[in-house]
Amino acid sequence: MTRVAVIGTGVIGASWTVHFLAQGLDVVASDPAPDAEERLREAVGAHERLTFTADPGEAAAAADFVQENAPERPEVKNALFATLDAAARPEVVLASSSSTLLPSAIARACTRHPERVVVGHPFHPPHLVPLVEVVPGEATAEAAMEAAMAFYTAVGKKPVRLRRELPGHLANRLQAALWREAYALVQSGAASVADVDTAIAYGPGLRWALLGPLATQHLSGGAGGLGHVLAHLGPPTEAIWRDLGEPDMTPEFVADLVAGVEEELDGADPVALTARRDAALRAVLAAKTDLP
Ligand SMILES: NC(=O)c1ccc[n+]([C@@H]2O[C@H](COP(=O)([O-])OP(=O)(O)OC[C@H]3O[C@@H](n4cnc5c(N)ncnc54)[C@H](O)[C@@H]3O)[C@@H](O)[C@H]2O)c1
Repeated sequence: MTRVAVIGTGVIGASWTVHFLAQGLDVVASDPAPDAEERLREAVGAHERLTFTADPGEAAAAADFVQENAPERPEVKNALFATLDAAARPEVVLASSSSTLLPSAIARACTRHPERVVVGHPFHPPHLVPLVEVVPGEATAEAAMEAAMAFYTAVGKKPVRLRRELPGHLANRLQAALWREAYALVQSGAASVADVDTAIAYGPGLRWALLGPLATQHLSGGAGGLGHVLAHLGPPTEAIWRDLGEPDMTPEFVADLVAGVEEELDGADPVALTARRDAALRAVLAAKTDLP
């Protein structure tokens, strides 16, 4: 596997390009925007293993793996996948970065080989965050799932294989569950935006980042592990579930949330803060190498 086609080179496509080049792969990138090549080369720096074409079919025909990152609009993805499917060799996996579309819907326009279409959903930014969710559609073949898992592993990602497609895949559903209660707590006046962030970032979030929520819970049970935890804390947790809130996302409340974050960040420059966060993220990843 030496050449990847990166189709759509906005926020996510540019970051994938950085990652694939850093992994020693050739990248053939494609994007119809007039200034796309210039923007990409600016983001990536001069690179002899990067080529660019405005024609997505040409990129797909030259690739051993296709990573699509076009706008999140079904009609755009469908037209694009019809082109990619017509051009790519039959065994080449066509992976979409889509956050919200199901692979079955994306593959609908593929008349040749819909069995090689998967969602390969990264987390922003893909050159830093290891997770990729690999999701099969109704027509996806086992061989395509295995090839996608092997590819992402080989290029240093941490792929998770979903057993079936569902809205939001896996991680965004988990985030949505937390956000729902976080917003509800703020709306009810129980906590401020800053309180919510402190509670997670200086509490459970630290351990979740290292081992995930379920293995963390297992370790909190001592010798009895998760079984012991659920035997005594399971029923009270179920009582909390029955009390969880349902925020009403009115424009006024959204404005309150935005104001709450602005107050929390106290004028910090978002670009500088992102850079500091990403530096800390690199250190956390380096510290995790001893963990499963
Ligand atoms: N931004 C995120 O945090 C994030 C995270 C994970 C996945 N994703 C997914 O990645 C994909 C891209 O999102 P983004 O945030 O990079 O969007 P973006 O708007 O930054 O980039 C989209 C790019 O696609 C190009 N484009 C437009 N029409 C096209 C076409 N017909 N063919 C090819 N390229 C075309 C645009 O010129 C633009 O450069 C979406 O499917 C999104 O769901 C986004």
